[in-house]
Amino acid sequence: MEGIGECVMRASLASLSARVRAASIHPARGVGVRVCSTARRPTSRATAADDEPPASSSPAADRVSSGEGARSWERFYRTHVGKGADPSAKPIRAFKDRHYLRREFAELMPQSIRDDPKAHTPPLDPSALPPPDVDSPDHKVVLELGCGVGNSAFPMMRANPDMFVHACDCSETAIANLRASPEFDPRRCDAFVADLAAGDSPLAEKIGDGTCDAVTGVFFFSALDSRTFGHVAAECWRVLKPGGSVLFRDYGLDDVKNAEGTKGATRGETRGAEFEPGRQIEDATYVRSDGTLAVFLDEARVEGVFREVGLEGECRRVTHEVVNRKLDVRITRSFVQGRFEKKAAA
Ligand SMILES: C[S@@+](CC[C@H](N)C(=O)[O-])C[C@H]1O[C@@H](n2cnc3c(N)ncnc32)[C@H](O)[C@@H]1O
Repeated sequence: MEGIGECVMRASLASLSARVRAASIHPARGVGVRVCSTARRPTSRATAADDEPPASSSPAADRVSSGEGARSWERFYRTHVGKGADPSAKPIRAFKDRHYLRREFAELMPQSIRDDPKAHTPPLDPSALPPPDVDSPDHKVVLELGCGVGNSAFPMMRANPDMFVHACDCSETAIANLRASPEFDPRRCDAFVADLAAGDSPLAEKIGDGTCDAVTGVFFFSALDSRTFGHVAAECWRVLKPGGSVLFRDYGLDDVKNAEGTKGATRGETRGAEFEPGRQIEDATYVRSDGTLAVFLDEARVEGVFREVGLEGECRRVTHEVVNRKLDVRITRSFVQGRFEKKAAA
């Protein structure tokens, strides 16, 4: 993970009407995409439909579909808040605020920030700020997947106070912490718990079809196995307005942590390297010591997943130098960043 997360690396019926809504016609498949139905995919928490192919079983898919992935993230945040502590009592600083998103996700920003991405943006003060102006050209409705405690959502809202963010995460503790922030303003953010890997689509009840200008996922898709990734991509297509886009940033396949893990290590082995990503369970897929999953993403594969659901775009490689003064090491991290658009019907 980036920043403080480095240490973590060491130590990732909805209602019938909602079902019908979510079964919108999908351009890539030409049939209803049942993104919100329990029939979406067989898991231990959901019943498989007769017409659904059997779940591909893999160590990563088993972890995610059994709910172990979500439970691990909840444990991760509980550890950060401290045993028995009230998640609203103090901010969880698991990750650094991702200020660079105002530059990298510039299309969500007002012109003033696009012109000067480094402009000072004060913390949000709900008592002093007017509600977001829904008539402003800067008004954007964003779904932030795997929002954690808001290290991406708050910097985006600070830079664009006319933004509204639906922020979801599988960890109750993370959401409680986000909501307890003095910057949290229910007029510009709806934060809720949802396991996006669960058989039901929790988003179907919360987010209508074609209502979002963008879906963001920052170091989120790497927590999913490939099959879940495909289902979440279809859900992105459902919630996006025509012309809206998925914007994401995540671990790249050639990131040093993946290289460290594969170099000389055999599957299932844990290496002693300082920057090891964890125990390798599949190609480019690791379970960290805290049980969270880290999948290093291949650009071509990511493009294929989004294309499959009808989202058009591409990924690019982004590198970032990280200095760990304590360990006296300098490493170059490699990330994939992408933009995938739901094209307006011709
Ligand atoms: C590396 S953190 C990134 C947090 C945040 N996006 C940020 O920018 O700091 C990954 C997040 O994805 C969430 N997550 C992982 N699997 C999830 C799932 N199946 N459903 C919803 N959230 C999930 C985790 O709880 C965690 O908060």
